[in-house]
Amino acid sequence: MNVALVGLGATGKIVAEYLLGKNVLSMVLCRKNSHHADLDLGVVLNRRDTNIFIETCEHLERKLFENKPDVLIDFSSSHFLRENINLLAHYGVNIVTAVTDYEPAEIEKIKQVALQDKIGIIMAPNITHGVNVLMLLTEIATELMKGYDFQVLEEHHHRKKDSPSGTAKKIAAKIENIMINHLDDREVPIHAVRSGGIVGRHKVLICGEYDQLEISHESFSRIAFAEGAYKAANFINGKKGLYGMDNVFDAERIIKKHTVTDDDHHFIAN
Ligand SMILES: NC(=O)c1ccc[n+]([C@@H]2O[C@H](COP(=O)([O-])OP(=O)(O)OC[C@H]3O[C@@H](n4cnc5c(N)ncnc54)[C@H](OP(=O)(O)O)[C@@H]3O)[C@@H](O)[C@H]2O)c1
Repeated sequence: MNVALVGLGATGKIVAEYLLGKNVLSMVLCRKNSHHADLDLGVVLNRRDTNIFIETCEHLERKLFENKPDVLIDFSSSHFLRENINLLAHYGVNIVTAVTDYEPAEIEKIKQVALQDKIGIIMAPNITHGVNVLMLLTEIATELMKGYDFQVLEEHHHRKKDSPSGTAKKIAAKIENIMINHLDDREVPIHAVRSGGIVGRHKVLICGEYDQLEISHESFSRIAFAEGAYKAANFINGKKGLYGMDNVFDAERIIKKHTVTDDDHHFIAN
């Protein structure tokens, strides 16, 4: 698998180092006027030369044709796919986008491209394994804890642009969807903190009159994002269509495995 990476910010640099370690990185893209343009990636990562020269997004058509990446991992901003998604689809480059600042219309456009089945796209506003497990556990807890008060708390570094995080909004929406099935249409409050260098914390607080449950996840290192992105790239390589990280982590199969079936009732009763 040949991987292209766009975005060499706080997260992208860690992802680049991780992908170099896996021997899959073949192309790194930056903005038109970026000070990273034409440098060896090793200079930006403060390590020995890599022989991968950072290229701007200008004349991307020619660069994709020459490099032929299988998958592009995007840790840049919504601008990149807004401008280049059609080109990537044309050249059959699959996409893992971890970017979180998309407008609803941009998300719709990305989904439409994926549903044309020319390329495979993973939309991953929450890319770590742990956060995906947190979401799964939260869905189970919401089914089981009818009438409890649910709140979502999230904390991130002060440079993070979106607030609350896309992940927090997604968790709250999942809880609300399940609560509606229980004829409970309360809104789930989200509390966001932006402070210092916090990599990322999400907590679901579930309070009743007499007890409470907390489900929480914390990323200690951005390597957790790199690991998730690499797993996502391996998953999407060679596929077409639209996927999420729940597909990468095979959440549906795990839920089915642990769902109590009629056979289980029979077994328990006997
Ligand atoms: N899904 C997840 O779990 C997860 C985890 C971590 C981060 N993220 C998301 O990933 C994105 C990047 O995060 P970050 O913390 O690394 O941000 P950051 O430090 O601001 O870095 C963003 C990088 O993207 C580059 N960039 C922006 N627009 C570009 C464009 N149109 N073309 C090429 N390069 C472009 C920037 O280049 P310049 O320096 O030239 O501006 C910079 O190198 C954010 O949306 C963030 O929320 C998601």
